[in-house]
Amino acid sequence: TEAWGPDDDEPRPHNGPVKVRVPAKINLHLGVGPLRPDGYHELNTVYHAISLFDEITARHGDTLTLTMEGEGTGQLALDETNLIVRAARALAARARVPAHARLHLKKSIPLAGGLAGGSADAAATLIACDLLWGLGFSRDELAEVGAQLGSDVPFLLYGGTALGTGHGEAVSPILARPTAWHWVVAVADGGLATPAVYRELDTLRAGSWPPPALESADQLMSALRQRNPEVLGAALGNDLQPAALALRPQLADVLKAGTEAGALAGLVSGSGPTCVFLASGAAHAEKIAEGLTAAGVCRAAVTARGPQPGARVI
Ligand code: C5P
Repeated sequence: TEAWGPDDDEPRPHNGPVKVRVPAKINLHLGVGPLRPDGYHELNTVYHAISLFDEITARHGDTLTLTMEGEGTGQLALDETNLIVRAARALAARARVPAHARLHLKKSIPLAGGLAGGSADAAATLIACDLLWGLGFSRDELAEVGAQLGSDVPFLLYGGTALGTGHGEAVSPILARPTAWHWVVAVADGGLATPAVYRELDTLRAGSWPPPALESADQLMSALRQRNPEVLGAALGNDLQPAALALRPQLADVLKAGTEAGALAGLVSGSGPTCVFLASGAAHAEKIAEGLTAAGVCRAAVTARGPQPGARVI
């Protein structure tokens, strides 16, 4: 080999632009344990990435800037509090490089919807800036940076269907034969703040003795392996659902409308207020979406498929 010239294995900066697509997540199982001293709740969750996507485009720049289009434009702060800006800064600090990039977000995942849109954008930013700046970090290294930004960021770097433990940041992929699942996503008007939903759950649980145990994901995992939507539907569950319903009682009407439209099962996605419904196939999903739209219980009803890969360059 030559003694000069760049090493081909050495990561080098990309000319840009770098475009990264990232999916939304739902939780097929969300077991919530007690509140920990650090303010998080211990979780046993099964994450599932679905075909509702945000896109981040990264270009070189003299400073760090963020612009956006699409869902939530005008409502989402684009300043230093934004998870995209925080993700770029965290990665730059870790790599000891200047956080210089022009970032643009094209958003389809609703804000504060329980679909981890913010964490998804942070995950996409980590992938995009890593490539733009030529850092060559592994997905595991990016997940370590991401875990500091939001509980769901590591999962959105991997995607697929995965078990989440700790406060959700510890992710292990579920190695099952891939099965395509068909969902209907009922998007609500307005969001729910995740901390408020967890606090409501603590309030609902206060005084219950013995304290509710952290439910394992075993039943959901075995349902997944059976690859039968009826079986999966019966195993879906979310401990945050009663709290989301207490804060937003109209969600009961959404769940009812989805079931009446023929869904195999319906549940609140994460901390809500988005509700998701399981269908037996693509045509069935279309029919449920039409039923939900006709019932007038949500801002939009869209079909989606899972699992999807995590944040990746397109
Ligand atoms: O990690 P993330 O920023 O998404 O969490 C937002 C908030 O949700 C936390 O500050 C906490 O109030 C609540 N949360 C929790 N237990 C978890 C995850 C989140 O109480 N496992």
